[in-house]
Amino acid sequence: VKPEQIVVPKREKEPEVDDGKKKVTIFFGTQTGTAEGFAKALLEEAKVRYEKASFKAVDLDDYAADDDEYEERLKKESYAFFFLATYGDGEPTDNAARFYKWFTEGDAKGEWLNKLHYGVFGLGNRQYEHFNKIAIVVDEALAEQGAKRLVPVGLGDDDQCIEDDFGAWKEMVWPELDQLLRDEDDSTVATPYTAVVPEYRVLFHDKLQDSYTQNLSHTNTTPDSQHPCRSNVAFKKELHTSESDRSCTHLEFDISNTGLSYETGDHVGVYCENLSEVVEEAIKLIGLPPNTYFSIHNNNEDGTPIGGGSLPPTFPPCSLTTALARYADVLASPKKSALIALAAHASDPTEAERLKFLASPAGKDEYAQWIVASQRSLLEVMEAFPSAKPSLGVFFAAVAPRLQPRYYSISSSPNVAQNRIHVTCALVHEKTPAGRIHKGVCSTWMKNAVAVTESQDCSWAPIFVRTSNFRLPSDPKTPVIMIGPGTGLAPFRGFLQERLALKESGTQLGSSVLFFGCRNRKVDFIYEDELNNFVETGALSELIVAFSRDGPTKEYVQHKMSQKASDIWNLLSEGAYLYVCGDAKGMAKDVHRTLHTIVQEQGSLDSSKAELYVKNLQTSGRYLRDVW
Ligand code: 2AM
Repeated sequence: VKPEQIVVPKREKEPEVDDGKKKVTIFFGTQTGTAEGFAKALLEEAKVRYEKASFKAVDLDDYAADDDEYEERLKKESYAFFFLATYGDGEPTDNAARFYKWFTEGDAKGEWLNKLHYGVFGLGNRQYEHFNKIAIVVDEALAEQGAKRLVPVGLGDDDQCIEDDFGAWKEMVWPELDQLLRDEDDSTVATPYTAVVPEYRVLFHDKLQDSYTQNLSHTNTTPDSQHPCRSNVAFKKELHTSESDRSCTHLEFDISNTGLSYETGDHVGVYCENLSEVVEEAIKLIGLPPNTYFSIHNNNEDGTPIGGGSLPPTFPPCSLTTALARYADVLASPKKSALIALAAHASDPTEAERLKFLASPAGKDEYAQWIVASQRSLLEVMEAFPSAKPSLGVFFAAVAPRLQPRYYSISSSPNVAQNRIHVTCALVHEKTPAGRIHKGVCSTWMKNAVAVTESQDCSWAPIFVRTSNFRLPSDPKTPVIMIGPGTGLAPFRGFLQERLALKESGTQLGSSVLFFGCRNRKVDFIYEDELNNFVETGALSELIVAFSRDGPTKEYVQHKMSQKASDIWNLLSEGAYLYVCGDAKGMAKDVHRTLHTIVQEQGSLDSSKAELYVKNLQTSGRYLRDVW
């Protein structure tokens, strides 16, 4: 089969112009588009407020080709804003990673940024341990390097309403910019700003071949998130036994002839599809025939960009069915900006008023309750406001965000499965407070996927590999401690496959211990036979399993760790690497605390010395976490 590449939405670069105006650069480090959206919202409003200045929004990765260029260019900046999201274990987004590493660890130190005035807004989630770490670190580093902080760092919290946090932070920015960007003799009042609902230009087409599945000639590029690769589902099986009321899918993507390659510990990004029942529901609510063929354009007919380039990326021409299946996130709760867009297109004035209220400061509590806490999806909200019928241009520009790729820790090793990427994925299937059954988009797609072993007409998805730093020690004799309950086992299955391959090729291995946790031995002890085989072959020295619902009391991996405290301490003293994978909000925090206690007690250290010990493990790369 010829490799097939799929176009995904693209960003466009703005050209440089020197018009003698004061220049403000708005940087963003974005993963799912929220930081980019905020950066562009600030840009749009600022353009209207300060006609005498010029603004541009810049993807941090596009700003500079290498570290020297970062330094050269940043030195010349006078005004800058940074929108920075924090992910996983306190990590920057992919497109900010290079900047972050250079800026926080690089040589460019000292007061070299004293020309710069800046503001930082962070995007994070308070439920996680490293809440807004990236924004906080960059904000402090900028100040240390002599830059002048205009406003306190904004700590956006996605667990609540991050749009409100952004709104409040923005209100602190304007008075500062008034002083910096307006001339002293400028007595005019700042132009009032009213947000306009953005809208693509839409062209309707006669039936066209859905370009989504067309062969596109990207074959010379290495696949990445912008150039994913079509990959067939080669194999699929259920990992829970029939007694389970949950489900966990083992799925294998065929990557032969795709140009994709990976290393043990990497992640795979999967662009999945909405279920057909979800697409049908969305089509009903939009009120157009499913075979409406159309394309969206972010420029006017004369070529000028619509909304100053602030629209989300476009996608290739396709049918409404394809657009809704592949590009529209309709199951997430709508943002306030989406409610405003719906209000603008509601023919019933009562509905329009109510939508506007929900998006307004006065409706804050109701939005938090009726939308966020109830986990109401965009579709449910549209159902509740049937007169709101946005055009396709508005729907894809302002109502439904782009469906984002989902990331999974790869559960195989290329040493064993060179042409396959294995994924271990727990099904998301839960009742929301509003009574809807929420079916996770990608986990449901995986559960329903048809493998090539079942039909020639098998399921496929555009996928790509994201490199991680979750790696086995380079010396195979270094001991390893792995902690991964539930699907946190995934990368360790890859690690163990790799160790088994090493062992079979005659390499001597250091000792290894795996702490795994599940509910019941008979129900969700996934990969049990394989794990036992790793022990029998010597790829794994010890397997320790915590069953949380088999006995009278809950047993978790951290309880097992405490029981094995002296073994863990001995291994660490021999230079062991310690790995944690799985849930960040509960498990990884508890495991971290347990590790601290083990170090403190076994090493007879006081609490601060134990903390230093654990910190050193982390900074020396011997304590690695792959958590979500
Ligand atoms: P539970 O569902 O019985 O609470 C994989 O999901 C395993 O991790 C399950 O056995 C689950 O137990 C357990 N688990 C839940 N919360 C945890 C935590 N904070 N720390 C460690 N394990 C946890």
